[in-house]
Amino acid sequence: MHIKEAAKRLNTTARSIRFYEEKGLISPTKDSENDYRAFTENDLMRLSTILALREIGISIENIRKILENPEIDIKQYLNIQRTALFEKWIEMKDMIETIDKMLEQPDDNEHFAEDIQKLSQHLKAMKSIRKSWKDRWNFDKQAAGYDQNIKMHGYRFNVHQDYDNALDMVAGTVSMQTGDTCLDIGIGTGNLGSRFLDKGINVIGVDQSEEMLKRCQEKHPSIETRKGHFLALPLMDNQAEGVVSSYALHHIPDNEKLLALQEMSRVVKDNGQICIADLMFLDANHKKQVLKNFLVEGNLEAADAIDDEYYADRSMLVDWFNQHKFRVETHQFNDILHMIYAVKGER
Ligand SMILES: C[S@@+](CC[C@H](N)C(=O)[O-])C[C@H]1O[C@@H](n2cnc3c(N)ncnc32)[C@H](O)[C@@H]1O
Repeated sequence: MHIKEAAKRLNTTARSIRFYEEKGLISPTKDSENDYRAFTENDLMRLSTILALREIGISIENIRKILENPEIDIKQYLNIQRTALFEKWIEMKDMIETIDKMLEQPDDNEHFAEDIQKLSQHLKAMKSIRKSWKDRWNFDKQAAGYDQNIKMHGYRFNVHQDYDNALDMVAGTVSMQTGDTCLDIGIGTGNLGSRFLDKGINVIGVDQSEEMLKRCQEKHPSIETRKGHFLALPLMDNQAEGVVSSYALHHIPDNEKLLALQEMSRVVKDNGQICIADLMFLDANHKKQVLKNFLVEGNLEAADAIDDEYYADRSMLVDWFNQHKFRVETHQFNDILHMIYAVKGER
């Protein structure tokens, strides 16, 4: 088949087919007499894959890698691309919301220039917060031994005391129907998400660590895993009936936590539920008291471990939920482990 016919079959142009040929992604045979390209059905299949991948924004280089290596799982690239697009989309939404606020300024506002400057500074700060998180703990490296490690107790400080109780309580508190969607953020190896799978619930597990997601997939193939992070969840608005998270939120600093709650609220439906089991203190005074007690006991191991992470101030998270019209309940397992359960919307 000649190039024009191939282009027609694929709903593209001869020019773009030549472009992919120049890039070395396809190499149709050429007729020795007239030098015309002859496209086979196989060439067409390859071309239609190229066109589909370009349409969703995958780079020429990555397409080359996918095509050159039949072992490569194309879905892995699709997943990466989806995450990148969600990040862009969320950034665009922030920008559009800022424009809306700028446009809402009254015409006679004497401080217009200052006010839009403030809004743009806020936008800049949000962009930077969403991008700045780094994995200081190397969760990729922890993935293989994670399930074993949570069973081992530190010598003088056991963060995993009540781990199973807490996960059971989250699974028992969030009530969903078969076929509902539950998002588990920072899913790790799937210990919380799998408790929902057993009840016929569709579980989407998000994690920033690819190795954790791989481990989760090996253990629970029915969990849909997506790479992503607390501050740019790879889900559409109002997509999930439930959002849960265990032992993950304390890896992001306090100023990012409220943005993380905002993200959870974005993806959960009205009347949907958010449930977080994590390391936190009741409030700033409680933190001081617990740290003081550890120091008095000479337990530096505990004080250092707490310093290395961002245990939340529970009262701050609860205030946020109350201000955003959630109904909130809390539970305390021990000095440092708490659960917050919040239902979206007024009763
Ligand atoms: C201590 S593990 C907890 C795993 C699991 N939820 C559990 O209860 O066993 C923390 C998990 O949170 C993930 N995580 C940490 N910070 C994150 C972030 N900002 N966005 C997404 N995942 C994050 C880590 O990659 C890791 O898999």
